[in-house]
Amino acid sequence: MAEQAFAGEHIVGPAEAPDDVLRVEHVAKRFGPITAIRDINLHLRKGEVLALLGDNGAGKSTMIKILSGFHKPDTGTMWLKGEPYLPKSVDDARAHGIDTVFQDLALVDQLSVYHNLFLRRERVHRPIPFLSNRLMKREARKALDEIGINIPSLDVPVARLSGGQRQAIAVARTVSGDADIILLDEPLAAMGAKEGAMILDLIARLKAEGNVSIVMILHNYVHVFAACDRVSLIQDGVIVLDKPTSETSVDELTEIVVEEYRRARLAERSGNGAGAAGASSAAPANPTSPDTAE
Ligand SMILES: Nc1ncnc2c1ncn2[C@@H]1O[C@H](COP(=O)(O)OP(=O)(O)O)[C@@H](O)[C@H]1O
Ligand SMILES: [Mg+2]
Repeated sequence: MAEQAFAGEHIVGPAEAPDDVLRVEHVAKRFGPITAIRDINLHLRKGEVLALLGDNGAGKSTMIKILSGFHKPDTGTMWLKGEPYLPKSVDDARAHGIDTVFQDLALVDQLSVYHNLFLRRERVHRPIPFLSNRLMKREARKALDEIGINIPSLDVPVARLSGGQRQAIAVARTVSGDADIILLDEPLAAMGAKEGAMILDLIARLKAEGNVSIVMILHNYVHVFAACDRVSLIQDGVIVLDKPTSETSVDELTEIVVEEYRRARLAERSGNGAGAAGASSAAPANPTSPDTAE
């Protein structure tokens, strides 16, 4: 790519660990004139919970959507457990063991809670394939109980639930599946303190079991330091910090974000708007149209 690093910017290069399940090198993605991500290097170790941090518009969701098979990268390379990885669709990524809770939740409003929980992996009776409602309901209840989320009736359409309850269902659906890599895009955004704590407890339990590796986009640093092993901070489409949570602090993370703000203000004043990598354009932050068929 022709773009250059901005003055004062630190870009984290490719890194790896012997137990990596996922690796991303030099991934970039544009949407027409907008550069959503410029050059992302990431890795995820087995059993690890990685926080992907960054301001609105930094490119976090785009990265998650590339890993989840929703978008295709323009350039760059990805590996899944040592094998080249380029999912053709969200279903293809799922077949590879990567499941995602998207920021713009993929629940179907008209379907009941338990049908949403089993969307795309409906239980069927064999040899006659019809949905086993009783079995799905029982497992749905179990999955929700496991999180501790109280949803009075599993038969109501999810349109009637609160944002936090909907999010809890989306997370429950994903973690109760058999994926060994889970991507969570702002899973706690619409939740109250109690629901958020329940999801974090669930993630702590998964972590203790050690079989699942998680990338989680969070905004609240308290959650980051409570739940995550490592942080990767993304700014204007590149990773500018990659550290174990034990080696960084709220102060350090805040300082980097404030510095970026100052740099952008300076660039603005000197009439040089290039500091935003095109990412500050007026395009919607949550696109609804996929560029790969799901
Ligand atoms: N489908 C799309 N079409 C056009 N622009 C997009 C699309 N998806 C994301 N963008 C733009 O890319 C940039 C990064 O977006 P996103 O990855 O959603 O950021 P974040 O999740 O960090 O807030 C933003 O400027 C956003 O407007
Ligand atoms: Mg986002």
